[in-house]
Amino acid sequence: MPRLPDGTTIPALGQGTWHMGEGARSRAEEADALRLGLDLGMSLIDTAEMYAEGGAEEVVGDAIAGRRKGVFLVSKVYPHNASRRGAMAACERSLKRMRVETIDLYLLHWRGSHPLSETVEAFEALKRAGKIRHWGVSNCDVDDLEELGPALADCAADQVLYSLEHRGAEFDLLPFCAGRGVPIMAYSPVGQGGKLLRHRALHEVAQRHAITPAQAAIAWTLRDPNVTSIPKASDPAHIRQNAAAGTVRLSPADLATLDAAFAPPTRKRGLAML
Ligand SMILES: NC(=O)c1ccc[n+]([C@@H]2O[C@H](COP(=O)([O-])OP(=O)(O)OC[C@H]3O[C@@H](n4cnc5c(N)ncnc54)[C@H](OP(=O)(O)O)[C@@H]3O)[C@@H](O)[C@H]2O)c1
Repeated sequence: MPRLPDGTTIPALGQGTWHMGEGARSRAEEADALRLGLDLGMSLIDTAEMYAEGGAEEVVGDAIAGRRKGVFLVSKVYPHNASRRGAMAACERSLKRMRVETIDLYLLHWRGSHPLSETVEAFEALKRAGKIRHWGVSNCDVDDLEELGPALADCAADQVLYSLEHRGAEFDLLPFCAGRGVPIMAYSPVGQGGKLLRHRALHEVAQRHAITPAQAAIAWTLRDPNVTSIPKASDPAHIRQNAAAGTVRLSPADLATLDAAFAPPTRKRGLAML
C-alpha cells in the first residue's frame, strides 16, 4: 500500500470515474457500480470537477451516501480554477456535489497558468480549514515537482498516465517519487479498454494465471509498491475482475514477457498525458 507523507496508507487499488455522469449509463447504474467496487474492497474513488462538468462528482455523492467512512475520496481542480480564491470556491462546489465535508486528496489536474506556489497556498488553506486532508498534483513531471521546492514534502501524490503502453515515467519520475515518498497514482491502467487489452503478450501472461488481460494489466501497475492503480469500470463484470486483480502477483517470467513486448524506457521522454 502506498504511504502518504504523514504515514497514512492509501489503498493500492481504486476506482476511476471519468465519463461517469455523461449519460452513457444511468447515474443510478454508475453509482451502483461504484458501490459494488467499494463492497469488493476498492475503497479509493478518483473523480474530478472536470468529469461531466461535476456530473461524475454527483454520481460519487450518490455512491457514497451513507457510507462515507472507509472511502478514500480523491478529486481534482481544473488548472484555470487553481488560483488562491478559485481553488477555494472550486473545492466548495466539489464538496457540495459529493455531499461530503472533506476530500481526502485534492489534486491539481494538470498545470495551467496559475503559479504552482499559489495553488499550494490555496491547498494548504483548504487543509487548515478541514476541507481537504491532503493535496497533490497530476500530470506533473520531475521538473514540475522540483519546482514545488520544500512543499514537495507535503505533496501526497502525482497522478499520471502509467500503463504497459505508457512506461516513460519509469525512467525518472517513478524513482524520483519513490525516493521522496510521493505516491504515484496510475491512470488509464487498462488502456481505456482499447488495443492494450488485445495485445498478444498480455493474453499470454493472463492465460498463465487464468485471469483476464485487464487483470494482468492492473497487476502489472501494482507490482510497484508506491503505485495506486485506478481503473474505471461501470460494467459489473469488469468491476469484479478489477477488484480481484489486487491479489494477482506476476512472476519474473511474466514481467520478462511483458518487457519484451512493451520495452521499458531507456531515455528521458516528456510525460505522456491524455
Ligand atoms: N489525472 C488525469 O489527467 C486523468 C486522465 C485520465 C484518467 N484519469 C483517472 O483514471 C481513471 C482510469 O482511467 P481511464 O478511465 O482513462 O481508463 P481505464 O481505466 O484504463 O479504462 C476504462 C475503460 O476500460 C474498460 N474496462 C475497465 N475494466 C475492464 C476490464 N476488466 N475488462 C475490459 N474492459 C475494462 C471500461 O469499461 P466499462 O466502463 O464499460 O466497464 C472503460 O471503458 C479515470 O476514470 C479517471 O478517474 C485521470
